[in-house]
Amino acid sequence: MATMESLIGLVNRIQRACTVLGDYGGDSALPTLWEALPSVAVVGGQSSGKSSVLESIVGRDFLPRGSGIVTRRPLVLQLHKIEEGLQEYAEFLHLPKKKLTDFSMVRKEIQDETDRMTGKSKQISPVPINLSIYSPNGLSDNHPFFFVVVNLTLIDLPGLTKVAVEGQPESIVQDIDNMVRSYVDKPNCLILAITPANQDIATSDAIKIAREVDPTGEKTYGVLTKLDLMDKGTNALEVLEGRSYRLQHPWVGIVNRSQADINKNVDMIASRQREREFFACSPDYGHLASQMGSEYLAKLLSKHLESVIRARLPGIASLINRSIDELEAELGHLGRPVAVDSGAQLYTILELCRAFDRVFKEHLDGGRPGGDR
Ligand code: GDP
Ligand code: NA
Ligand code: MG
Repeated sequence: MATMESLIGLVNRIQRACTVLGDYGGDSALPTLWEALPSVAVVGGQSSGKSSVLESIVGRDFLPRGSGIVTRRPLVLQLHKIEEGLQEYAEFLHLPKKKLTDFSMVRKEIQDETDRMTGKSKQISPVPINLSIYSPNGLSDNHPFFFVVVNLTLIDLPGLTKVAVEGQPESIVQDIDNMVRSYVDKPNCLILAITPANQDIATSDAIKIAREVDPTGEKTYGVLTKLDLMDKGTNALEVLEGRSYRLQHPWVGIVNRSQADINKNVDMIASRQREREFFACSPDYGHLASQMGSEYLAKLLSKHLESVIRARLPGIASLINRSIDELEAELGHLGRPVAVDSGAQLYTILELCRAFDRVFKEHLDGGRPGGDR
C-alpha cells in the first residue's frame, strides 16, 4: 500500500507541475501524460447544483454558488493529503506561496479572479483557475473531507445553457458546450452528470452530453440533485433505480443546501446531517439510504479513481519513461531558447518523473500480483 500511495502522490505532483507549465510541453509526452491522469468534472445545466455537489464532495465551503450564471471559468481543484497535525490550507496557482486558511477568502478570490478575466459581466472564459487544497484529514465518517488514497482532481465548469441572456454574446451557448467537451473528452475524466430532480430527465443537458462523450457509460455517474424540491406526491425512484435511464454505474441522489440555507450560512456539517436524515427518514428512499448522498458519492468516486490509477499504472509508467528521455534531451539542448521559469519547471518535472520511475521499479520488484494490498 505504501508504494501505491507514493506512486499516486508522484503522479499527482507531476500533474500539478505540468499544470504550472501550461502548454509548454509541446510535442513531448507530457500533454499525453496529463490526459492519462484521472480527474472528475461536473457537467449539467445552469443552476442544476454542480458547484454545490463539488463542494459537498470536498466537504468544504469555498465555491461561489447561486442562481444564474455564477461559475464563469473552469475551476481545476486538486486535493492533496498532508501529514496529520498540519493545518489545512488552500493555494491558487496564480498566487503562489500565499497559503489561505480562511475558506471564505478562497471563494472571494475565485470571484475576483473570474472578474479579472471577464469583467463583472455574464461573460465566460475558458482559461481555468487552478486551486489546490492541502488537508491532513483522511476518510472517515466523522470527517467531512473525503479522499483516501487518490488525491482527487475535480473540475467545476460553467453550466450548459440554451439561450444567450443580456450582456452575453450569441456564441455563448456553443462556447460553453465546447468548453465542457474539451474537459470531459479526456479519456480519464469521469463525468458527474448533474440533473435536478425537479426537471424531466428527458431534457437533461448533462445526460445528453455524457451519452455523446461516453456512449458505454463507463465513466459517467448520474447524480440527481434537489430531491427535496420535487412536487408533493412525486418521487424519483424511476430514475434512481435505473428504470428511466440506465447507466453503467448506479444513480446517486443528493440533497444540497437550498438558496435559503446558503443565505443563512448553514454549514457543511449541518447540511450533511440533514441530507442523511432526509434519506434515512424518507418513505420513498429509505430502502436506498445507504447508497444515496454526497458522502456515498465521494466514496464511490474515490474507489473508482483508485482502480483507474491501478489499472493505468503500467501505461503511465511508460509515458513517464518517455518523458524522462525527452526532458533530458530538451534540457541538454544548449542554445535553444528556454525561458528561465520553464527551464526550472522542466527540471522539477524531470526529478519527479525520475522519482516515479524509481518507485515504480521497486513496486515491480517487490511485486507479487496484488502484493501491495
Ligand atoms: P450550478 O449553477 O449548477 O453550479 O448550481 P449551484 O450549486 O450554484 O446551485 C444553484 C442553486 O440551486 C443554489 O441556490 C443552490 O442553493 C440550489 N441548490 C442546489 N442543489 C440543491 C438541492 O439539492 N436542494 C435545494 N433545495 N437547492 C439546491
Ligand atoms: Na448557478
Ligand atoms: Mg456553478
